[in-house]
Parts: sequence; C-alpha cells; structure tokens
Amino acid sequence: MIWIMRTTFTPLHALVLASVALAAPLTYLKIRHTSSIDYSSFTADPSLNATALYDAAKRATKTKMENSSYLTDPDTNYTTQIYGDWIHLQNVSAFHFMADMDIDCDGVDSSCSANSDVQTETTFGALDASKVPWFVLPQRFADEQKKLLKPNALGAIICDGKIIYAIFGDTNGADPLVIGEGSLLLGQACFQNNTIKIDGNHGHDQRDVAYIVFGQQVPTGIGKNTIDLAALKTLGDQQVRLLAQELNL
Ligand SMILES: *[C@@H]1O[C@H](CO)[C@@H](O)[C@H](O)[C@H]1NC(C)=O
Ligand SMILES: *[C@@H]1O[C@H](CO)[C@@H](O)[C@H](O)[C@H]1NC(C)=O
Ligand SMILES: *[C@@H]1O[C@H](CO)[C@@H](O)[C@H](O)[C@H]1NC(C)=O
Ligand SMILES: *[C@@H]1O[C@H](CO)[C@@H](O)[C@H](O)[C@H]1NC(C)=O
Repeated sequence: MIWIMRTTFTPLHALVLASVALAAPLTYLKIRHTSSIDYSSFTADPSLNATALYDAAKRATKTKMENSSYLTDPDTNYTTQIYGDWIHLQNVSAFHFMADMDIDCDGVDSSCSANSDVQTETTFGALDASKVPWFVLPQRFADEQKKLLKPNALGAIICDGKIIYAIFGDTNGADPLVIGEGSLLLGQACFQNNTIKIDGNHGHDQRDVAYIVFGQQVPTGIGKNTIDLAALKTLGDQQVRLLAQELNL
C-alpha cells in the first residue's frame, strides 16, 4: 500500500486506518449472519394476501393440464391434479396443484439428518438443500411441458398460512412418479412452528400445500449450488402481485 511509504501522517491516513479497523469486524459479522438464513428473505411481502390466494388456488380447478395426475405418495392411492386455469391470463401465467411436502435432500453438502437417499446432483445443478428453497416436479411432467416450464422457474408455495418463494430445482423420476416435495430449507421455512422438526425423514403429510408455478419466470442469480434470495423475492412479489390483480383478490 502506497500511503504507508509517505513520511507525513495526514487526517486522510487516519480516516483510511479507521475504516480498515471498522470494516474488519463488519465483514466478520456479515459472514456469520449468512450462515443462518432468515426465512423472511424469501417470504412474500405482507401486503400480499396468502389466504385469498390460497382460496383462489383451491377453487381454480376447471382446466386439467394434460397427463398431469400424480400420486402424492408411492404407498397410498391418493392422486392430485395439476390445473392450468391461470396459464393464459393477460399479464401472468401459472399452473398450480395441492399436495403434501416430502423433503428432498439431494445436492451438495446437505445437512439433512437421517436422510439415506441423497444424490449429489440436482436436475439443473448441485443445489444445496439447506441454502436454496426449491420444489420438485415429476420428470415426465417437466419433459412434456417444456414450453410452459423452464428449469429453475419460480414457484409461490403457500404453506401454513404464508407464501414462500422457491424455484423448480429438481425432478422426481421414481416409479411410481410422485408429486409434493421440497428442499430442506423450503420445508423448514414453511413449517417453522411444527412440533416435529422438519428433516430428511420428516416432511409434512397433509395435502394442504398450494404450489403455484410461474413456469416462464426464472429468477436471476442462481448458481450451481446457491441462489440470490433477494432476487427470488423481488420476482416472486412481482408475479404474485400480477396474479392477485388479475384474479381481483
Ligand atoms: C385476505 O383475504 C381473506 C380471504 O379473502 C380476507 O378474509 C381477509 O380479510 C384478507 N386480509 C386482508 C388483510 O386483506
Ligand atoms: C392401490 O391400488 C391398487 C390397484 O387398484 C391396489 O392393488 C392397492 O392395494 C392400493 N393400495 C392402497 C394402499 O390402497
Ligand atoms: C409461529 O408461532 C409464533 C407464536 O405462536 C407466531 O408468532 C408466529 O407467527 C408463527 N410463525 C409462523 C411462520 O407461523
Ligand atoms: C395487464 O396490465 C396492464 C398494464 O399494466 C393493465 O392495464 C391491465 O389492466 C392488466 N390486465 C389485467 C387483467 O389485470
């Protein structure tokens, strides 16, 4: 650093020294803070009415998407249906369904305790299940709906009375194909108040989660392992607001 070479110590030098001294602990605090993720950083703005949108999703069951009936669990016979009532709205496009939420711990360095079925890759990268909120769709549906569904597309997941944003981060190719699955972080954000802690073996069994997928909208800032949660929330609030406007909520 060139200023150290000078012989006189000016107020500017004092300022530089002071800011270096201040910046060090600030940087430290910042790094520490990101190690525990604030769920509100990808939860919808409180001005968006989760209950109204949830009720609207449950009512919008006129248009079944082609070939889109899936089991919510391999060992029950309960199937759910993906609906396209909102695909051709004027300013926004989304499809939706109701399901449970099993926990997907694929991807890098996941902290899913008790999960024995972990793959190191997710379908479009190697997302970290404890750092990225994502939901899973059946592989066959993703293959058949390529025009309406981009990799990493935005979803608004309504769970336990709130809207949480996530991306379409992984597919399920198991036989039989099932639907209703989210990453560890999505499950934790959705069910913060559960008495049973969400982990790789404990999801949410009730089929009362609404998944609204804005298949054409992909947030910026998605890396191989990580996501820019602020960009996810910005796009999420924008799309949900457009949807709420069109539905007159
Ligand atoms: C949200 O929507 C519900 C259901 O339509 C309604 O009863 C409630 O008053 C709304 N809340 C706000 C804050 O507007
Ligand atoms: C599901 O349906 C199949 C075929 O109809 C039947 O054999 C099976 O016992 C059912 N399973 C359950 C858990 O109801
Ligand atoms: C969890 O429970 C607390 C206390 O009952 C409540 O204040 C909070 O809003 C709840 N959080 C969620 C996300 O439901
Ligand atoms: C779509 O957006 C345009 C431009 O903002 C607006 O004028 C129009 O009312 C919107 N349409 C609906 C159905 O909300």
